[in-house]
Amino acid sequence: MDQPIGVIDSGVGGLTVARELMRQLPREQLIYLGDTARCPYGSRPKDEVVQYTLEMVDFLIEKKIKLLVIACNTATAYTIDLLKEKLSIPVIGVIQPGARAAIKVTKSNNIAVIGTEATINSKAYPTALNYISSDLTIYDQACPLFAPLVESGQFTHGETEEIVHKSLQPLQNYKKIDTLILGCTHYPLIADKIQKVMGENVQIISSGEETAREVSAILAYQQLFYKKDRIPVHEFYTTGSPILFGQIANQWMDYPVNHVEHVVIEQIKSDK
Ligand code: DGL
Repeated sequence: MDQPIGVIDSGVGGLTVARELMRQLPREQLIYLGDTARCPYGSRPKDEVVQYTLEMVDFLIEKKIKLLVIACNTATAYTIDLLKEKLSIPVIGVIQPGARAAIKVTKSNNIAVIGTEATINSKAYPTALNYISSDLTIYDQACPLFAPLVESGQFTHGETEEIVHKSLQPLQNYKKIDTLILGCTHYPLIADKIQKVMGENVQIISSGEETAREVSAILAYQQLFYKKDRIPVHEFYTTGSPILFGQIANQWMDYPVNHVEHVVIEQIKSDK
C-alpha cells in the first residue's frame, strides 16, 4: 500500500524508533513530526500532552498515513487508548513493546524503568509489565533532565555523565536489577552513558527494535505492506529549529536527513 507511516514524538527522541523502522522496513516511507517547540512533554500536565498529541496526529492524518507510531512514551501513556478509539488506522505505542522486550531478557525478574516524570507517574510501564507477568519486581525512576539535554544537542559533553550518574543514583541500591528499560525515546541517544553508570551486568532495553517488529507484524496482518522495490524518501517536520533537528538527526540516523521542514504550530491547529 503506497501510503506513508506516521511517526510522532515531542522532539528528536522518536528518531530512535524511526531508525529501527527504516532498518526493518526498508521499503516503507516515513513521515516524522517532532514537536520540538513544545518539548519536553514529560513535565507537562496530561491535558496539555493530550491536546498537543492530537494536534500532531491531525497533521499526519492530512498526509494520509496508513499507520501511526507514537514514538514517545509520554504521549503513549496518555493517549494510546484515546487514539486507538478515535482513528481508523492502526496505532502503535512504545510502552508495550518496551515491556515485552524487557521480559524477554530478564533473568532475575528485577526490572528498572526510567522515563519522564509523566511516564513514571502514569505507572504505564508497571501496568504493561504486570499485564504480561505478575512475577516481577519493578523499580522506576524519573529522569527529567535527560530529554532536554538530548534535545539541546549537548549530550556528548562531559557534564552529561555527571547528570546521568546523579539521576540514576537511586537505582544503584538495587543489586538484583538486571534489566533497565529506557522508557523515553530520547534516552537511547545517551545509552552509552547510562550503560556505564548501571554497569555491564545490566541489559539496556530501548523499545525501538520491538516497536518496529510490531509495526511489521501489523502491516503483514492487515496487508498494508508496500510490496514493490523502492528506496523511499522520508519526510521530516519539526515545530522547532530545523537546523538543530537536522544536526541531531544526522548524528543518529543512517539515513541522510538533508531536509527538515519547519511547521508552525498554529498551522496544525488551524488545520483541525
Ligand atoms: N521522547 C519522549 C518520551 O518518550 C519524552 C521527552 C519529553 O519529555 O518530551 O517520553
